[in-house]
Amino acid sequence: MDACTFVIFGATGNLSQVKLLPALYRLDAAGRLPEGVRVVGFGRRDWDDTRWRAEVGEWLAERHTEPDVLQRFLQRLHFFGGDLGDETVYPRLRDHLLGTPEFSPNLVFYMAIRPADFGVVARQLGVVGLNREDGGWRRLVVEKPFGYDLESAEALNLRLSRDFDESQIFRIDHYLGKGTIQNVMVFRFANLLLEPLWNRNYIDHVQITHNEAQGTEGRAGYYDGAGALRDMIQSHLLQLLTLVAMEPPASLDAESLRDEKVKVLRSIRPIPQSAVNAHAFRAQYAAGVVNGEKVPGYLEEPGVPAHSVTETYAALKLFIDNWRWRNIPFYLRTGKRMAKSNSMVAIRFKHPPQQLFRETQIERIRPNWILMNIQPNECIRIEMQVKETGLEMRTETTRLDASYCGVNLAQLDAYEALLLDVIDGDHSLFLRYDEVSWAWRVVDPILKVWAVERDFIQTYPAGSWGPPQAERLFVRQDQRWRNTLEEEPED
Ligand code: BG6
Repeated sequence: MDACTFVIFGATGNLSQVKLLPALYRLDAAGRLPEGVRVVGFGRRDWDDTRWRAEVGEWLAERHTEPDVLQRFLQRLHFFGGDLGDETVYPRLRDHLLGTPEFSPNLVFYMAIRPADFGVVARQLGVVGLNREDGGWRRLVVEKPFGYDLESAEALNLRLSRDFDESQIFRIDHYLGKGTIQNVMVFRFANLLLEPLWNRNYIDHVQITHNEAQGTEGRAGYYDGAGALRDMIQSHLLQLLTLVAMEPPASLDAESLRDEKVKVLRSIRPIPQSAVNAHAFRAQYAAGVVNGEKVPGYLEEPGVPAHSVTETYAALKLFIDNWRWRNIPFYLRTGKRMAKSNSMVAIRFKHPPQQLFRETQIERIRPNWILMNIQPNECIRIEMQVKETGLEMRTETTRLDASYCGVNLAQLDAYEALLLDVIDGDHSLFLRYDEVSWAWRVVDPILKVWAVERDFIQTYPAGSWGPPQAERLFVRQDQRWRNTLEEEPED
C-alpha cells in the first residue's frame, strides 16, 4: 500500500474528532497504516504541530488508547492554519505539501466540512494544480450529504468534476464500511442455498431499518435542514437496499458492482406526487422516556426552530419493478429517539402453500425470517420452525445463527475499512455519481410534497417504536415492523 498524506479539511470539527482521527489511530495501532502516512489537519485555529498533537492526544486518550501507540501516531500529525474561503491560502498549502520532504506526494483531500464548502475547496485545489496527478496520485473524499435534492446534487457534481476526474472522487457512505453490510454479498452469493429463494416467489417482504435511541446530538443546525429521509434513507438505507436486491455482478471490480446497484435504483417504481402519502410516512419525536431517562421533544432541542416540521422518523414503501422483485414491498424505516438503537435488514418469507398442520394443535405456523443485524451487534440469523419436544404437536421458532451474534468488541469501525480503500484506490464501496443521482430520483417526489405540506406533522413519544400510523404502509394485515433480533412480531 502506498504512503500518502491525508489532508483533513475541517480537522477540528466533529467528524474529524469522533470518526476520522480515531479510525486512523486504530489503523496505526493494528499496524495497517503504511510507514509514510502523514495527517495534515487544515483548520482556522492558530495552532502549530505541537498544539495540534496535544489536542488530538487528549481527544484520543478518552478512547482507551495505548500510550506508546498514541505517541507514535501523534508524530504523524501536522497542522496547517488557514481559512477555507481565503484564496491566498491554497498556494501556500500547495507549497507546504509538495515542499516538505516528509510528505508523500500521494495526497488525500478529505472534506470533513459543510457541504456548502465542498465546491469552493475543490475549485481552489484545482486552481493551484493540486488536482493534477504529477508525481503522485490525488484523491478527493466527499462526505454526505451529496446535494440536497436531485438538482443540487447535479450542480455539485458539475462543480467537482470541473477539477477532479471521477476516478479521483471518493463519495463516502460510511454505512458501506460496516461488517454486516459487507457480509450481505458473501452471504447471498457464496451460499447456493439462498439464491434460489431470493425472489418474489418465496419472499413476502423486506424491511430495512435504522433506529436510534439518540436524538440530534447537537447537530440540529444540519439536521433540521435535512430530516430523516435525506439523512438516512436517500443515502444509507437505499444503498443497503441495492445490496440486498441486486443481481450477482459479473465480477467484484468496482464498476461491475456499481453497475448492478444502479440497475436496482433505476428499477424502483417511481412514486407519483399524488401517491406520496400512500408510500411514505413522516413524524417527529415529542418528549418521552428513553432508557429510563426523561428526554425533551425535538422542538425543545437546542437550535431547533420553534415550529419546525422536520421529520425525525421516516418510513417508505418501495417496489422494484424487475423479474426478481416485482410487487414485493421493501419497507425502509428510520427514526431518532426510538426505544432502542438497532439497525437491521429483516427478510420475511411467505407462508408454505399448504396448511398441512391445520388439524393439529399447531394454530398458526410462523413464517421464516432471515435477519441481518448491522448494529449494535453484527449478526446473521435464520428463523425456522421445528416441532417442540414432547407428545404434543406444537411448533417453536429455532434460530440458526449464521455468524457470530454476540457483541464483538474487536469490531472494526466502518471508517477504518473505508480509509484503507481510499489509500488503496478501491472504489467498490464508494458511490459513483449515477448511484447518488438515481437515489435522489427515488426520494425527490416525497421531498417535494413534504416541502409544501408544512402545517402538520404527526408526533411519536421519544422512547417508543415510532408512530403506529406508519403501519398503514403495509400491503397486508399480517405484516408488522420487526424491531430487534429477539422480538418476534405477532401475525
Ligand atoms: C449519519 C447520519 O450519516 O449516520 C446520522 O447523519 C446518523 O444522523 C448516522 O446518526 C448513523 O450512523 P452510525 O454509524 O452512527 O449508526
